[in-house]
Amino acid sequence: MVHDATDVGYKHIDTASAYLNEKAVGQAVTEVIAKGVLKREDLFITTKIMPVDTDSKAEALKGVALALEKLNTTYVDLMLIHRPSTDAVNSEVWSALEEAVSEKHIKSIGVSNFQISQIDSLLKSAKIIPAMLQVESHPQQNQDQLIEYCNKHDIRMTAYSPLGAGTLLKDATIGSIGKSHNKSAASVMIRWQVQRGVVAIPKSTKRNYLIENIDVFDWSLTDNEMKVLDEMK
Ligand SMILES: NC(=O)c1ccc[n+]([C@@H]2O[C@H](COP(=O)([O-])OP(=O)(O)OC[C@H]3O[C@@H](n4cnc5c(N)ncnc54)[C@H](OP(=O)(O)O)[C@@H]3O)[C@@H](O)[C@H]2O)c1
Repeated sequence: MVHDATDVGYKHIDTASAYLNEKAVGQAVTEVIAKGVLKREDLFITTKIMPVDTDSKAEALKGVALALEKLNTTYVDLMLIHRPSTDAVNSEVWSALEEAVSEKHIKSIGVSNFQISQIDSLLKSAKIIPAMLQVESHPQQNQDQLIEYCNKHDIRMTAYSPLGAGTLLKDATIGSIGKSHNKSAASVMIRWQVQRGVVAIPKSTKRNYLIENIDVFDWSLTDNEMKVLDEMK
């Protein structure tokens, strides 16, 4: 998938220790770079660390080192806390990620699946403001409140499961918007996120879908179509 994706123009790869695929991603990235088509700095690699509730800071530092080793890279572009633990554990893990930033092992740090109150707590002790919040988002979960909060704190949002994990691909409303642009329902859902300033990370194992999902940068949805999608909640 990494070979196909980079071949058709993707630069952002989203992985996680919990997906058990960092090693395979690292191997594929190494091969792609060896082909000479892309350099490491052309790619944006995001990975995620799962908080461990005891010795959280030390365990997180070990987790960062292990991720770099598996990904076969000297740095990752973005590392996220995969899901929140208690506020105390979140702060300890965050402090480890801050240390890894100062050691240039990570360029940016962020969180995933955090609610507003959990980010508020983190901000009390954080030296670095999270660069990114990755949450589930698609037309049936627009996350408007989180977007407003992120804008206020200069945090970017990434939508995971932007196609509703595949469940919205046959939605009649989304399909009919797509028809009027000669685009698929998948392209409509991804374009909607891009047009409202949200990063979308669709997943596909099929090359033709990978091509379809990146075909979102040279056309736009009308204001009315954006409103219809916004209001699907
Ligand atoms: N932070 C977190 O806790 C978290 C949680 C879940 C996911 N994620 C991230 O978000 C990524 C995407 O989420 P997701 O996999 O849950 O959902 P998704 O991207 O919304 O949907 C993936 C599903 O849609 C299908 N699909 C993709 N493009 C298509 C197209 N153009 N036409 C028809 N079907 C298409 C895929 O099938 P095929 O594979 O057969 O193409 C797959 O079944 C994951 O890979 C992961 O990196 C993060």
